Amino acid sequence: MRVGVLTGGGDCPGLNAVIRAVVRKGVQEYGYEFTGFRDGWRGPLDGVTVPLDIPAVRGILPRGGTVLGSSRTNPLNERDGIRRITDNLAALGVDALVTIGGEDTLGVATRLTEEYGVPCVGVPKTIDNDLSATDYTFGFDTAVGIATEAIDRLHTTAESHMRVLVVEVMGRHSGWIALHSGLAGGANVILIPEHPFDVDQVCAWVTSRFRASYAPIVVVAEGAVPRDGDLVLKDRSLDAFGHVRLSGVGERLALEIEKRTGKEARTTVLGHVQRGGTPSAYDRWLATRFGLHAIDCVRDGDFGTMVALQGTNIVRVPMADATARLKTVPPELYEEVGVFFG
Ligand code: F6P
Repeated sequence: MRVGVLTGGGDCPGLNAVIRAVVRKGVQEYGYEFTGFRDGWRGPLDGVTVPLDIPAVRGILPRGGTVLGSSRTNPLNERDGIRRITDNLAALGVDALVTIGGEDTLGVATRLTEEYGVPCVGVPKTIDNDLSATDYTFGFDTAVGIATEAIDRLHTTAESHMRVLVVEVMGRHSGWIALHSGLAGGANVILIPEHPFDVDQVCAWVTSRFRASYAPIVVVAEGAVPRDGDLVLKDRSLDAFGHVRLSGVGERLALEIEKRTGKEARTTVLGHVQRGGTPSAYDRWLATRFGLHAIDCVRDGDFGTMVALQGTNIVRVPMADATARLKTVPPELYEEVGVFFG
């Protein structure tokens, strides 16, 4: 049996831990051979491979990023995409694919399995934690840790100058990182995409915080939008590669806070620092367990399946369940955390 492995979409701390677990168990327990595909779906599309064996995965457990490279290439948008993939897999003698990715990568894997008979197993990955059917994705804990540390640091400089510090964190469609890091870091306001915000309300919270002689920290997810619609706080544009680029909600909000409260405000955009570097211990643990279970799915011929965390157990779910809809922050959870606002 030869198993192909690819990592697609935005990178995420813990990807290498999955790859290592898949290869270690696959070789040692089942005697499988492996083919690494470069840059997500680009690899099987163009037949670009990297050697993947025990020596290739040595020492990669604590390393961020992915030794296989990643891309947002979608073969369903490429000319003859499906045929090129099936031809390349046949030519390379690859019998099954372990696809490690988020919504897009797993969506493609689902269709390849269901409609074209390509045997794929899915491993969920995203720092955003917004994939359904799994309680957590690896990478999220690391991102929350990085954002929390940044918020801790920003408290002291905010207090020294009695300024508002606005921290923009990742989260295009969901506010999980903002919610967890904001709560852990003692933020005074947390703004998430699921709950359009009222700029006047934010300013009222900021003002009440100053009245209590504290400098406020506002955590805003990059995809958060204002309720009043009169402010274009979010700039959504396409870059040269056709990807949606969000910019500026943090900075625009800070300017608006200054204008409406008369208090000085500064913005910190954490950006890709949340995705880089070594995974937390928890993410290494989760990613490793996902990898071990994913290769068992291959052994069992259980394709179209994704491994998922439910409670403390790793379970198998239909891959389609993870991509059918995003897992967003429920209103009652946001309300619960809202007791700390202001
Ligand atoms: O989906 C993960 C994520 O990190 C989002 O939080 C963020 O909006 C996006 O990827 C950034 O993507 P890119 O690395 O392509 O700029």
